[in-house]
Amino acid sequence: MTTRILTGITTTGTPHLGNYAGAIRPAIVASRNADVDSFYFLADYHALIKCDDPLRIQRSRLEIAATWLACGLDVNKATFYRQSDIPEIPELCWLLTCVAGKGLLNRAHAYKASVDRNIELGEDPDAGVTMGLFSYPVLMAADILMFNAHKVPVGRDQIQHVEMARDIAQRFNHLFGQGKELFTLPEAVIEEDVATLPGLDGRKMSKSYDNTIPLFSGAKQMSDAVARIVTDSKLPGEAKDPDSSHLFTLYQAFATPEQQAQFRAELIDGMGWGDAKQRLNDLLNAELGEPREKYQALIERPADLEDILLDGAAKARKIATPFLIQLREAVGLRSFRSVTTSTESSKKKASKRARFVSFRDDDGSFRFRLLDASGEQLLLSKSFTDGKSAGMVNKHLQSGEPLDVREQGNGFAVWLDGESVATSPEFADAGAMKAAVERLREALAPEQA
Ligand code: TRP
Repeated sequence: MTTRILTGITTTGTPHLGNYAGAIRPAIVASRNADVDSFYFLADYHALIKCDDPLRIQRSRLEIAATWLACGLDVNKATFYRQSDIPEIPELCWLLTCVAGKGLLNRAHAYKASVDRNIELGEDPDAGVTMGLFSYPVLMAADILMFNAHKVPVGRDQIQHVEMARDIAQRFNHLFGQGKELFTLPEAVIEEDVATLPGLDGRKMSKSYDNTIPLFSGAKQMSDAVARIVTDSKLPGEAKDPDSSHLFTLYQAFATPEQQAQFRAELIDGMGWGDAKQRLNDLLNAELGEPREKYQALIERPADLEDILLDGAAKARKIATPFLIQLREAVGLRSFRSVTTSTESSKKKASKRARFVSFRDDDGSFRFRLLDASGEQLLLSKSFTDGKSAGMVNKHLQSGEPLDVREQGNGFAVWLDGESVATSPEFADAGAMKAAVERLREALAPEQA
């Protein structure tokens, strides 16, 4: 069976060497695998959550698209597209929004971090928080579930989002799948052996630390950045410790095992930092020189890039369009031509969702409970001396005949033939009790509408 791998790249920046080694290169390698069907896309709707500068959004989309192609992504094998070219994604996002618990989203790290910061500053907890930020994980779930991805390679900070996508998928399957799995449950994959590159100062390479080495901005820009890599002050001829040098870590990410061993030996042997930087620069150019030229050529032909991405979108929509039709059907957004006027199946479903549980009490008598869809107890029957009479009452309650419900305090009893046959628990207040009566009536409603 082929594995569907899917990942998105938020289009707010220009790819640097860390993005290349940590995400782009491994993703392209994975996409070449014969048992893999890969979906890589520009998460440009997600970019709008973080950035309100149209020029930056546009520039970043172009640069990221060109980067992936220049690095060798084969668009005949992989499906490569812009999120914003797939209208099915925001549509699915709405269907998922309607089943995603607000409480679940309250726990999302990105949202929580904003709230915590606001509280610390004495601001309103939601100050500056947009609905885009709050719903970010639902849109990401739509990206993933739209194509029924099995595996989602992401950074550690995104694991929670993939788990939320799983959660939302499960909920949707349960509500609308009628026993079938509408959505595949996705799994996050964290590539353990993929390089997390250190930046110029040794901290993780990241735009927010301003310590990046540019990927394709030019050979000169790259060698200038390499020259700025921080080292210790050992002179040429003095032994260097490769394991405490992030220049060595950077070298390792691009070198064969033999090259690594050689470089290590030479550092210990006293190679000067200037020479070491030259060596790293040569190594980077060997891998990236050709892609850099391809990149420049692509960037100069934006109309061609547009065509490539539109082709990718068409390929993706061959899957998304029919699948969304199926999902709309599942939730009840159906053509009137095909509609059946009976609500029988949904009634059956409602009564199936509440359930009776029979049991023997400690004293040997027979009783049953009625649990609502969430498993909360609505009724506990009186004790019956034999199973048959318990069963008859149980059956009578499900017969669809009008229920005789009598409220008492914050609870209620159900009466049958002049006696109370089952009682509810005490609810917190009259409102909770009324709501429970409502759920009881719904669960036991007659089949004909
Ligand atoms: N949120 C991801 C990030 O910032 C990008 C992304 C959007 C994504 N949709 C996705 C990643 C779907 C994987 C799957 O890194």
